Amino acid sequence: MPATRLDGKKIAAEIRSEVAADVETFVSGGNPPPQLAAVLVGEDPASQVYVRNKERACEKAGIASRLDRMPAATTEAELLAKVAELNADPAVSGILVQLPLPAKAAGGTGIDERAVLDAIDPIKDVDAFSPVNVGLLMQGRPRFLPCTPHGIIQLLHRTGIETSGKHVVVVGRSDIVGKPMAMMLAQKDSTCGPAVANATVTLAHSRTQNLTEICRQADILIAAVGRPEMIRGDMIQPGAVVIDVGINRVGDKLVGDVAFAEAESVASAITPVPGGVGPLTIAMLLHNTLMAAKLQAA
Ligand code: GUN
Repeated sequence: MPATRLDGKKIAAEIRSEVAADVETFVSGGNPPPQLAAVLVGEDPASQVYVRNKERACEKAGIASRLDRMPAATTEAELLAKVAELNADPAVSGILVQLPLPAKAAGGTGIDERAVLDAIDPIKDVDAFSPVNVGLLMQGRPRFLPCTPHGIIQLLHRTGIETSGKHVVVVGRSDIVGKPMAMMLAQKDSTCGPAVANATVTLAHSRTQNLTEICRQADILIAAVGRPEMIRGDMIQPGAVVIDVGINRVGDKLVGDVAFAEAESVASAITPVPGGVGPLTIAMLLHNTLMAAKLQAA
């Protein structure tokens, strides 16, 4: 029997309507609408699409949005000045600097991404990339949760997939997905939102030996490597749950990090690409923007 498809789009729509209802209550309590400020440096086509999708999603949830476009040749000092301006603006609830920043080869000036993310006021850090928010997460008392791993937690929770005591293998150790995902699943009980925790976690990466055997031990396999169809059917334990975070453009097609057709015949449940994890990232960004507005109103 082929795997059940985990419908991220449907769950994201559910979360977005919950956020929209909460925004309405927040605003009817006399507060200004939450506002997300996105900063887009350069003309990267994928980033343009992401930012446009974020703006549209904000609008539908009753969240105001502003987009500050800056040329690819923007210097680090100019971008830091923009972040300082947004930090100081009381109308701005959340700040998102779209990544990646332009590489030198793409007309960029070699901006230090870390320096920019460090400059965002932690109370407006809706990506949860700042050291303060990463540290709070490590300590099991998070403020903002990073959007993609939090979306996966919500997906597991809302589809009734048990994580407690289970072996989760996360493939990929990025700061945006792999590392925080592993940390969130290993936390106690409900320290990271809904009660999706208490997993035994293996964090695998490009230097992991015997990757196939390790992946085959996973009850839940989370692929976040950014390499098209790298996870093959024989790397999956029969009956495992497979979460595919990858969005890779191959020719004119979008494919995940998992070879979907092979995986579908082995797994018990799997997220499709597109329509799996992707829509949840934006839903959790809206959630964080409302949360930022509430924290600032308090
Ligand atoms: N680029 C790709 N994903 C993300 C994200 O979640 N946040 C930001 N700021 N940039 C990204």
